[in-house]
Amino acid sequence: MAKIKHLISVQDLTDEELKEILDQAGELKEKQKSGEPHESLRGKTLGMIFAKPSTRTRVSFETAMTQLGGHAIYLGWDTLQLGRGETISDTAQTLSRYVDAVTARLFEHEKIKELAENSGVPVINGLTDLLHPCQAISDLFTIREQKDGFEGLKLAYIGDGNNVCHSLLLSCAKVGMNTSIATPKGYEPNQEIVEKAKQKASEKSSKVKILTDPEKAAFNADVIYTDVISSMGQEEEREQRLKDFQGYQVNSELLSMAKEDVIFMHCLPAHRGEEVTAEVIDGPNSVVFDQAENRLHSQKAILVMVV
Ligand code: CP
Ligand code: NVA
Repeated sequence: MAKIKHLISVQDLTDEELKEILDQAGELKEKQKSGEPHESLRGKTLGMIFAKPSTRTRVSFETAMTQLGGHAIYLGWDTLQLGRGETISDTAQTLSRYVDAVTARLFEHEKIKELAENSGVPVINGLTDLLHPCQAISDLFTIREQKDGFEGLKLAYIGDGNNVCHSLLLSCAKVGMNTSIATPKGYEPNQEIVEKAKQKASEKSSKVKILTDPEKAAFNADVIYTDVISSMGQEEEREQRLKDFQGYQVNSELLSMAKEDVIFMHCLPAHRGEEVTAEVIDGPNSVVFDQAENRLHSQKAILVMVV
């Protein structure tokens, strides 16, 4: 039997598979825009476990399955027996008897690994505290669409060294983009992930820089990216974080450090006036809603590959 293809991290994909997803996303986007049917997952069902809220991930996966001719079932953590203590392992084994793939948005990263280890069908990571691979893959698709490729590009990520930052680091390294990350002290990305990204980047002759100075990171950038200061589950740290992240807001002044044709990206949801000003996110350099739309096209490509 062929090995089950889980997508827990972008590292689960070979460089060729990643390219295949990006190309496929482009083809599927064209088909959807021109109204050409592309129902290759007819009769297939996706189970979607959510332990945290979601607008984009939930709606784009569900719509993706509909457009591919299949069906998706939203499974809120507390509406499952998981919420009453049924084990991840029993849940995974049970769901595998019904559905053709599972996407899950969970807190602890270890739990999605446990889900995948016990699942007889592919598991797709819809975000954990550590990683957000579907976001980063989709972001590569948006960057390629906006910039016609990756070669020589520099992405500057300003803000928290969080799940989105981690998946961007790993993804940009895979396609040979240069990344500069600027975080306040104490909010740096996970060291192990940085090392993995650096190793991959060196194979591709690109660079990963972890800095504390946002202006240095933003200098000459092609893409400026930020995310929320407090991620889901960090609500109690909000006041402290707002203090610690002063000076790390993406505003017009910071944007002016980058190239003239810089694009501004944010995975959303955003907090205007905190990590980014309204002037930037609603301004001419912002591609955040194209970015949100592309979650649909790139996740269709992921589903087509793994299901
Ligand atoms: N970017 C993203 O994953 O958004 P949601 O939390 O709305 O799914
Ligand atoms: N870092 C954010 C991303 C939301 C899509 C969070 O985890 O809440």
